[in-house]
Amino acid sequence: MTPTPQLREDIHAQSARHTVIADACALTPAQMNEICSIFYHELLRRHPALQSYFADVALCRQATKLSSAIQLMFDYIRDPQRLGCVVVRVGTSHLGRRIGSAEYAEFIDVLADVLSRSQSRIPAEEARLIWMKELEPIVELMAIVSSEQ
Ligand code: HEM
Repeated sequence: MTPTPQLREDIHAQSARHTVIADACALTPAQMNEICSIFYHELLRRHPALQSYFADVALCRQATKLSSAIQLMFDYIRDPQRLGCVVVRVGTSHLGRRIGSAEYAEFIDVLADVLSRSQSRIPAEEARLIWMKELEPIVELMAIVSSEQ
């Protein structure tokens, strides 16, 4: 069977996704910490209004927490049920901080940018779209958890 252009595109998208996730999984915890640290500085530079959330938070410790959460999510990427548990747990820890869909959207927009720039095997713009597709359902669930309590 000759693959249709659509099928070829789907296969390409699947293999690009695997490359992006595999590259990210291959990062050491120290490299992921460094990326998360860059991420928080970039987040607050682009969205100064978010600074109020982090007023009394040590950003270097925060970067380590985010880094561990991302590493944990990679571990569970093939296990949606366990992934759901981690996401609900992190979402629950954000309760009471008045973080809504708008803040989550700004957060993943910058996170996808920073993560995609840290990878070289896939063009940054393509990697960015893949990261957005990975992160969107995660923050949707986190936002639901926060709004339901
Ligand atoms: C993909 C989305 C996000 C992930 C994976 C994430 C991850 C985490 C993790 C793992 C922690 C530590 C939890 C704990 O100590 O119990 C945390 C804490 C926190 N997060 Fe997030 N977060 C996300 C989105 C956001 C957003 C959108 C904001 C606000 C704009 C935010 C603000 C905070 C604050 C203020 C803390 C508390 C820091 C502290 O008190 O030490 N997070 N986050």
